[in-house]
Amino acid sequence: MKTHKIAVIPGDGIGVDVTDAALEILAAAGAKFGFGLETQTFPWSCQFYLQTGAMMPEDGIRTLGKYDAIYLGAVGWPSTVPDAVSLHGLLLPIRKAFNQYANIRPHRLLPGVEGPLKAAGFDILCIRENTEGEYSGAGGRVHQGKRNEVAVETAIFTRDGVERILRFGFEQARARRKHLTSVTKSNAQKYSMVFWDEMTKEVAADYPDVTVSHMHIDAMAAKMVMAPESLDVVVASNLFGDILTDLGAAIQGGLGFAASANICPDRSAPSMFEPVHGSAPDIAGKNIANPIAAIWSGAMMLDHLGEDRAAAAVLAAIETATARGIGTRPGSHSTDAITAAVKAALEM
Ligand code: IPM
Ligand code: MN
Repeated sequence: MKTHKIAVIPGDGIGVDVTDAALEILAAAGAKFGFGLETQTFPWSCQFYLQTGAMMPEDGIRTLGKYDAIYLGAVGWPSTVPDAVSLHGLLLPIRKAFNQYANIRPHRLLPGVEGPLKAAGFDILCIRENTEGEYSGAGGRVHQGKRNEVAVETAIFTRDGVERILRFGFEQARARRKHLTSVTKSNAQKYSMVFWDEMTKEVAADYPDVTVSHMHIDAMAAKMVMAPESLDVVVASNLFGDILTDLGAAIQGGLGFAASANICPDRSAPSMFEPVHGSAPDIAGKNIANPIAAIWSGAMMLDHLGEDRAAAAVLAAIETATARGIGTRPGSHSTDAITAAVKAALEM
């Protein structure tokens, strides 16, 4: 029997609740499809920070590097640890250290879920650059607290970084409806985004079968609301993609349905799978968080591990549950009830 080694970081808040749910479904998928998941849970979180002074041990990245994949719940507990500390101590360094440069986020309505829009037939795959751009971490502050204080945060766009994410997007588009929208802001950002547009054209030359649109981020936000069904694959920089995928989550019915994968495409390091939502401290531990985004992210992990039949079955089980109205509206069902319904559908 094939066994996959998974590092599990439940993290903070509802990250713990939804990770439990996802692992239960993934184990059931393993039992049904004949593979094992050997999980090791790491308690790295804001609680861990308060105890040790760091979000993960110094050799944390080296430890994670030994696993086939990483499953993460959510990170952040801002009342005790500032978000900029917790995120730069765990989630963001993992994405960068393992070259997980492609953040994949699907946005479509699950059966039975009513989104806020009239449009229902959209199916968007957002590909967000995940290691550089506006999240490069380059910058600094001087004269703190004084009148002449200055803060600089530099977005870094490299030819390697931009080319590889665009190429990844074109490959995805080729496997889908063969349309790619490149998100830009080259009317205002005359260096980085003009470069981004040029790279889009350069890479597009290798994909003559894929049609390409260039769309400014502001117009893109409007398009996702007004005509989401016109979109297929969307490729965006780190920050633009971050913002657009919360909008994508909103039009698919909420963050409880938004799954994501941080992929290291050359497989030289583990990829990481996590729901888009955060730790939601206000509802943590109350058995009311929607685990569907987390379970769907788990399905994306199975797919990445080569268990594509199991991945498809988990997604189908989610759809069977939501089609019956389970977990489709906030507060309609508990975390446990939704998990049980998905599990029952999987085992049918
Ligand atoms: C996300 C999150 C993170 C991001 C935060 C928590 C740093 O919003 O995964 O979308 O901006 O990447
Ligand atoms: Mn986000």
